[in-house]
Amino acid sequence: MVANVSVIRPVTTPLNEVECAERIEAARRALGDRLIILGHHYQREEVFRHADVSGDSLKLSQAAAQSKAEYIVFCGVHFMAEVADILSRDDQVSILPDLAAGCSMADMANLAKVERAWRELSEVLSPDEQITPVTYINSAADLKAFCGRHGGVVCTSSNARKILDWAFSRREKVLFFPDQHLGRNTGYRMGIPLEEMVVWDFDQPMGGLTPEAIKRAKMILWKGFCSVHQMFQPEHIHDFRARYPDAKVISHPESSFEVCQLSDEVGSTEYIIQTIAKSPAGTRWLVGTELNLVNRLAERFRDDGKSIHFMSPTICMCSTMFRTDPESLLNVLEGLVEGRVTNRITVPAADAEQARTALNAMLALSI
Ligand code: 13P
Ligand code: SF4
Repeated sequence: MVANVSVIRPVTTPLNEVECAERIEAARRALGDRLIILGHHYQREEVFRHADVSGDSLKLSQAAAQSKAEYIVFCGVHFMAEVADILSRDDQVSILPDLAAGCSMADMANLAKVERAWRELSEVLSPDEQITPVTYINSAADLKAFCGRHGGVVCTSSNARKILDWAFSRREKVLFFPDQHLGRNTGYRMGIPLEEMVVWDFDQPMGGLTPEAIKRAKMILWKGFCSVHQMFQPEHIHDFRARYPDAKVISHPESSFEVCQLSDEVGSTEYIIQTIAKSPAGTRWLVGTELNLVNRLAERFRDDGKSIHFMSPTICMCSTMFRTDPESLLNVLEGLVEGRVTNRITVPAADAEQARTALNAMLALSI
């Protein structure tokens, strides 16, 4: 059964929402152009409405790189605020309103495990000659630095295809981390057969792979995934199509291969929004991405006669994106008004420099 988003509502903050919103706006006015608030599409509405710029990971990293504001407050998750710190000037300050807002997928890869994989791969191949490391932007800064050191690059869900084209133009293979699904879905669309994409199980010696499997593979996919997007299942799409044969299905590429294969469209959060916006009035959509965004789309397009359904029958929100609430945003902003910087995200200089190399390569390829 597919749930209609109009009946699913996340629990909202019990504090006085109106007063909180007014104080956030007052702090924004007091800080003026010294402040920019960046808001990812998965943020809850009460936070999202205060963003100066909203977008997917690529758009927000470009906004962070271009901003002249002294304070970049990132309503998103930890790796996003790290990217803002890396791409901004030294005298700019990147702030994450709730320091516990991480990304469970990003946590599935760490430097020790990736370096071990690189060492183990060197028993079979010459990694620095044969493999381009590509990290999804949903990863810690030291993994972006690893890519910078080894001739690799960062990608997001909206530029993964371009980035992989570039990666393969340099070396014959790609080690892609941490999201196996984005890697597989993109690789397959580029024409790489499934049997040439192997999964690196980071808990096993040699990734659980034989030397022959590694030599045959074009893509080595880290065994990571998004706990939100893994909830979407092929049967949700089958059930929906049985009820609404003319409807369209759109999914985020962090969803499984089977879900993406059954979808009419696959793309980043920004792509999902634009595709639904461009669709004719009266279109019915099943959307496989995070609930706060799907709820927003349902409301935004209701008057156009578009009907937007959430793919899973259970509520699956990104709990870490949800950690940023109006109170935490208010606390950091009122601190800034009083001259106090709280929740600053700083990437150590050595990591920042190498990560910047990999991020700038991505930005140059994304124009
Ligand atoms: P987008 O770059 O598509 O917004 O994706 C970010 C993300 O974390 C999706 O889970
Ligand atoms: Fe990370 Fe998934 Fe949340 Fe995106 S939706 S921030 S990948 S846990």
